[in-house]
Amino acid sequence: MIEERKIIQSLITFLEGEKMGGVLEIFSPSLKKEFSVLFSSLALKTLSQSVYRCQRCALAQSRRQCVFGEGAPNALILFVGEAPGEEEDKQGKPFVGSAGILLTRAIEAIGLKREEVYITNVLKCRPPHNRNPLPQEIANCFPYLEEQIRIIQPRIICALGKFAAHALLSTSSSISQLRGKIYSYQGIKLLPTFHPAYLLRNPQGKIPFWEDMKRLKRELQKLL
Ligand code: URA
Repeated sequence: MIEERKIIQSLITFLEGEKMGGVLEIFSPSLKKEFSVLFSSLALKTLSQSVYRCQRCALAQSRRQCVFGEGAPNALILFVGEAPGEEEDKQGKPFVGSAGILLTRAIEAIGLKREEVYITNVLKCRPPHNRNPLPQEIANCFPYLEEQIRIIQPRIICALGKFAAHALLSTSSSISQLRGKIYSYQGIKLLPTFHPAYLLRNPQGKIPFWEDMKRLKRELQKLL
């Protein structure tokens, strides 16, 4: 494992150097894209290994496993949720429980497959009994999300629920006020909307949520 990490790290350093030196510019667009995907998947793999070993807070003691995130390493759209729930903690994958079924439907409704987007959370470990994330846990975990965004370079981030929207926009406005409008996170478009788990408990949020998904689809179409 240590050897594998060393190889990945040297490949990343090499590719980063090539990227910075403009060497990738001499390749055809399709080869450039392949290099870029390779670079991102290696960088995500290396980052995930730090996350899996993370002991920054007490959630390291209660988690079954970390849930790093999954999807296309160069996805145009990044979905950010709150924290893994019970099923996610069991399977090690984000949004695989009942909220995940709704999120998957929303992704398909905008014309994409789950594996064509990237899905992660603000917290990479499940809080006991699915309690809300604590401010210190968010502060400890946020650098991992920042690094995922730096690697994936999505064109649109969809913040699912108030914890993702608050962490990424450094605001404390309510999600009802924030949702449905486009903001900027370090130059990347960011659309906050209701969390799918909230919709399961509050069906009145479904109409605005689907309006937000239509908005997301329009933003996506501008990029294609
Ligand atoms: N809720 C979240 O915020 N994230 C998950 O991965 C699952 C449920």
